[in-house]
Amino acid sequence: MITLGIETSCDETALSLIETRGSYAAGDFEVRVIASLIHSQAELHSAYGGVFPMLAKREHGKNMTPLLEQILKSTTARGTLKDEEFGSVIESLRAEMESKDPDLFGALEAAEFLKNIPNIGQIAVTEGPGLEPTLWVGINAARILGKLWCVPVIPVNHMEGHVVASLLGSDTSNGQWQKLKELPLPSIALLISGGHTELIKLNKLGDYECIGQTKDDAVGEAFDKVARLLSLPYPGGPHISKLSYEAMQEGITPTVKLPRPMIASKDHNFSFSGLKTAVLYAVREELERTGTEQLPDASKKGIALEFERAVTETLETKLQGAIESTGAQSVIIGGGVSANRMLRESFKKIGEEYSIPVYLPSTHTSGDNALMIALAGALHGKGVDRPLKAEGTKRLA
Ligand code: KG4
Ligand code: ZN
Repeated sequence: MITLGIETSCDETALSLIETRGSYAAGDFEVRVIASLIHSQAELHSAYGGVFPMLAKREHGKNMTPLLEQILKSTTARGTLKDEEFGSVIESLRAEMESKDPDLFGALEAAEFLKNIPNIGQIAVTEGPGLEPTLWVGINAARILGKLWCVPVIPVNHMEGHVVASLLGSDTSNGQWQKLKELPLPSIALLISGGHTELIKLNKLGDYECIGQTKDDAVGEAFDKVARLLSLPYPGGPHISKLSYEAMQEGITPTVKLPRPMIASKDHNFSFSGLKTAVLYAVREELERTGTEQLPDASKKGIALEFERAVTETLETKLQGAIESTGAQSVIIGGGVSANRMLRESFKKIGEEYSIPVYLPSTHTSGDNALMIALAGALHGKGVDRPLKAEGTKRLA
């Protein structure tokens, strides 16, 4: 069965095609990646210091059709739609979609290539969590395509996508069949992205229990806000990571000490807004100490290093607490922040310490992508009878 994945929850327009066979429950599930496209709008939003939802929505609407045309080249046609058939589906959705999503609707309506019915069996689309205006673009695209080609549309939770992404092997570009990584249970998923910081207990794949979450900012959000304080572009995570690495290479010792929020608390919750405020004070202190109007490079690097250490020690302690209290037999790390080098090293060490596997996503699957959406949909999703609806705060558990 071939699944088309669609992801538009934030500022990446992403599409994927995977083929799957067997069943996960029976232990013979296998997946083959046919194609995965990611169009990032990060540069566009950089000027605003964060994602501007209505601009992101318009961009998704413009990018969706050319990306679809490109990815569908990897499929074969199983039939063609007559002009009247194509026209009648479009007309049936016009009243509902044309005014709400003019960029997407206008482009799809004019897309002749959609008359070739591809050999896909289902469409998986992110329903939430994310930015509601942008989620709607993916959902509306999926609904139009599902109706045109008579295939079911499976709604997928974006965070579940980040969970299953880490179960894929590191090389997804070779088109080969692969099994998912074995998952000793119970497992703990630490999900760290721009909008979420959560510890999830997996009793099995698809059975989730949230045991801890952030009370305020997500860890990625903290990276992005701290980056702004250091005059670094959005998204800030990679820039902070780079400065911190340079600080280590150059032997810079941070002159500031930042808190490790909530590491002494017995629960599994997080809080990152105080850490961000502490950075604000640290920046002021550094400006006073150096007597400059702009932070010198060495100060920026020192703060970046200390901030990354504070985040790493915090996540490390919380992850250890979760492993111990649940008796976890494996760990899954998911979400954009898992691209961070210092964090990856620290999570690997935790795996060695507890002698359990720690699964990290590859470079291609750590940020938002549609491969993870297609995979989550194919694993245990079903088409649903209810109408699909963007759910900005949709929860995994
Ligand atoms: O999962 P994701 O791509 O989108 C959301 O669903 O939010 O995560 C984006 C977040 C951003 O906050 C970005 O700054 C952060 O991931 N990020 C990083 C790194 N790469 C991306 N944070 C720290 N270090 C990185 N190398
Ligand atoms: Zn994400």
